Amino acid sequence: MEFNNILTEKEENIAVITINRPSKLNALNRETIRELHEAFDVLDKDPGVRVIIVTGAGPKAFVAGADISEFSEFSVDEGALLAAKGQELLFDFVERLSTPVIAAVNGFALGGGLELAMACHFRVASDNARMGLPEVTLGVIPGYGGTQRLPQLVGKGRAMEMIMTGGMIGIEQAHLYGLVNHMVAQEELLPFCKKIASKIAANSPKAIATAIKAVNAGFSREGYREEVKAFGACFGTGDFKEGTTAFLEKRKPEFKGK
Ligand code: COA
Repeated sequence: MEFNNILTEKEENIAVITINRPSKLNALNRETIRELHEAFDVLDKDPGVRVIIVTGAGPKAFVAGADISEFSEFSVDEGALLAAKGQELLFDFVERLSTPVIAAVNGFALGGGLELAMACHFRVASDNARMGLPEVTLGVIPGYGGTQRLPQLVGKGRAMEMIMTGGMIGIEQAHLYGLVNHMVAQEELLPFCKKIASKIAANSPKAIATAIKAVNAGFSREGYREEVKAFGACFGTGDFKEGTTAFLEKRKPEFKGK
C-alpha cells in the first residue's frame, strides 16, 4: 500500500502502521485520517494479518492532535461534520475492527492523538510519552470520542480533571490511571508490542473478534452523538476563534468570561 502520510509493514502475521508526518508531530489532517481508514480496512480484511500495531514516526510524538491549521476557520456545521466524519472513518472504525489493534504510544499523544490511542483496543507506551486532551485551551472540546473513552478508561473524576485542565500527564500517571497497560523504554516499545501481538495471534481470530464486539456492546453510543453536537457548537464561539488563532500565532489565548 502506498500513502503520503503513513507507512505500513507486515512481519509474519503482525502489521505495523506508522503515522509519518514527524515535522508536524504526526498531527492528523484529513488526508491522514482517510489513509488510516484505508490501511486499517485493508489490513483488517487481510486473512494473513492477526494483529495491527499503530505508532508514530520519530522519537517525539505518537500524534500531537488533529491538525489545528485545517479547522480554525470552520463553522458550527463544518465542526460537527469534522467530528462525525472522523469518528466514523477512524475512531469508531478502529474500535470496531475484528482484528485487535494495539497503540504503541511513542511520545506525545494529545487531543486526537490520545483519542486515537484510546480507540485502539489497548495501549502500551514508552517512558517519554505525554498524554492529554488540550482542546479546552483552544476553546473547543474533544470531538473524536475523548469525552467518552477517557472516563471509560480512567474514571469520571480523573477524566474531568484532565479535560478541564487540558494538561498533560506523564507515563507513570498514565500507567497508574490504567490509561496504558504497560510502560517500557522507547527502544523496547515495538518489540514489546510485537511480543504481546504474537501471543494474541496464537488465539482464535473468530473468538477474539467476537470478544471485541461483546466488550464494545457494553458501552452506550449516545454520548458520542452528544459530543459531536457539542463539539460543533464550540465552533460558533469567540473562544474557539481566539484559542485556535492564538495557537497558530504561537501565543497564549485570552478567553472572555462565561
Ligand atoms: N496541529 C497542527 N500542527 C501541529 C500540531 C497540531 N495539533 N501539533 C504540532 N504541530 C506543528 C507545530 O505547529 C510545529 O509546526 P511548525 O514547525 O511548522 O511551526 C510542529 O508541529 C512542531 O511543533 P512545536 O509546537 O514546534 O513542538 P514543541 O516541541 O515546541 O511542542 C507540543 C510540542 C506537542 C507541546 C505542541 O506542538 C502542541 O501543543 N501541539 C498542539 C497540541 C494540541 O493542542 N492538540 C490538540 C489539537 S485538537
